[in-house]
Amino acid sequence: MLRPGALLLELLLGGSLAAQAPAVNVQDKFPESEDKEAVTSTCSACHTLARVASNNRDKAQWTQTVKAHDSRGLKLDADETAVIVRYLAAYFGPKVYVNTATVEELSSLPKLDRKLAERVVRYRDAHGPFQTIESLIAVMGPESFSPVRNRLSIGK
Ligand code: HEC
Repeated sequence: MLRPGALLLELLLGGSLAAQAPAVNVQDKFPESEDKEAVTSTCSACHTLARVASNNRDKAQWTQTVKAHDSRGLKLDADETAVIVRYLAAYFGPKVYVNTATVEELSSLPKLDRKLAERVVRYRDAHGPFQTIESLIAVMGPESFSPVRNRLSIGK
């Protein structure tokens, strides 16, 4: 149970209680990419994008999700499906736990190069596990954090 103060803070920051903070633009959860528009326009036709953004699934699971939509009335050809699945698997793929991840795991994430992965691991080794997302953003830089914001977790 959250304390009232924590709840208010969540609402102000637009954190995990997104359903109760409609002012937060869900589009912002979709990282910029040449495929973004195809995904956000296609996947907002029947339900909100929050329905999509609340999931972390691998490529096979996203493929299954999109194919299961055929019977819900979403007709996509193979190319359209491939583009959408590529975007979702990259930006809403499985979580990577930044406090235990290897350089290889981190640098497999979209737009996260090996040099940055090494910097994150070096920092973690020197200072201990990241306690807050803010401290991780401070090390990565907001520009580099942005594409992987749905993939990185400081939990576990
Ligand atoms: C033609 C209408 C329609 C479109 C377009 C659509 N959806 Fe859905 N979606 C549904 C319906 C109906 C449900 C089931 C009812 C619900 O949970 O809201 C659903 C549920 C979901 C769910 C939760 C249940 C599950 O299958 O895991 C996810 C995730 C999802 N959609 C993702 C997407 C994605 C990704 C796209 C874009 C490729 C998309 N939707 C586009 C109709 C649509």
